[in-house]
Amino acid sequence: ASKKLLLLPGDGIGPEAMAEVRKIIAYMNAELKSGFELDEGLVGGSAYDAHGKAISEADMEKALASDAVLFGAVGGPKWDSVPYDVRPEAGLLRLRKDMELFANLRPAICYPALADSSSLKKEVVEGLDILIVRELTGGVYFGEPKEIRDLGNGQKRGIDTQVYDTYEIERISGVAFELARTRGNKVTSMEKRNVMKSGVLWNEVVTATHRAKYFDVKLEHMLADAGGMQLVRWPKQFDVIVTDNLFGDMLSDIAAMLTGSLGMLPSASLGAPDAKTGSRKALYEPVHGSAPDIAGTGAANPIAMIASFAMCLRYSFNMVAEADRLEAAIAGVLDDGIRTADIMSEGKTKVGTTEMGDAILAK
Ligand code: NAI
Ligand code: MG
Repeated sequence: ASKKLLLLPGDGIGPEAMAEVRKIIAYMNAELKSGFELDEGLVGGSAYDAHGKAISEADMEKALASDAVLFGAVGGPKWDSVPYDVRPEAGLLRLRKDMELFANLRPAICYPALADSSSLKKEVVEGLDILIVRELTGGVYFGEPKEIRDLGNGQKRGIDTQVYDTYEIERISGVAFELARTRGNKVTSMEKRNVMKSGVLWNEVVTATHRAKYFDVKLEHMLADAGGMQLVRWPKQFDVIVTDNLFGDMLSDIAAMLTGSLGMLPSASLGAPDAKTGSRKALYEPVHGSAPDIAGTGAANPIAMIASFAMCLRYSFNMVAEADRLEAAIAGVLDDGIRTADIMSEGKTKVGTTEMGDAILAK
């Protein structure tokens, strides 16, 4: 199988973090004969400066032809006043749309070395390892009608419409059940069937999908608001959570903050499996943005980007042992007390972006 990787470093700290991943890929190609074919493109403000668009058609084609895209971050004050449809974020939205990335995976893992710095009690987060699977291309963010309607009496009405079709719920729950089989074998589906018709359908379709194909996985249903409460109260009860676009946006941000800094959080977005090859289009990116406040200072934490590459190894290339090794190296470096500024605490060793990358590679 081919291993075509497209790197889209983007703006701000994106390229700084990506440089550390590039070192790991170079090591894997040289020492482990991993055979990654690398290509690179521009996205966000850097693409706008070069082509007047947030991603060029040529780079879009490369993304569609790749086995996986590694995306850094986009945006920054330099581009705050560019036209809306070519703003840096438009590059990411275009990639998600054209690659049909409907499943967004956000893990919340608590590294033992950082359990003390969580805002929650140590026993609540220590050993935490959950995965939120958020539907990314449907629901209230995209449903029609979507408008601000002038009611003519001095009032306006803001309208967004939550729409989900059976196939959308089937495919996102299929992803969640399949991932659960490789982990703790449990899925919690969250919706609001008590007040939303789309929630009733969500619940029915998840249940039917489970019965048809995934009865070996434990399935549980929870109302999304109660789910938010349980995430903060006792997050270790969860393994995989599957939910819609809106609830997933919020629940994944809540789950993320159980475990600490933005600089630590990876994500993956997956498309449907190809009918012939079974491989999925995929994009891997840190949760954080371009951090203009620290860009260029060499202080950025590259762990979110490196952990995103670990997800890429696991989900796009089935390189499970390598992904485990890379994640263990991140945990090991943290155990050694090595910290970038964003996760620094008393008595630890403060390092910059490249030293952190080097330490992980050495481990
Ligand atoms: P941000 O995530 O870039 O930064 C928020 C805060 O966290 C800043 O203080 C930053 O220094 C810190 N931070 C973030 N990542 C870090 C890392 N790896 N290491 C150390 N510290 C880190 O979000 P913000 O400031 O709201 O947005 C900055 C720009 O990034 C904006 O133009 C925004 O539109 C864009 N953005 C892009 C995203 C993407 O490319 N997917 C996502 C979020 C924001
Ligand atoms: Mg969000």
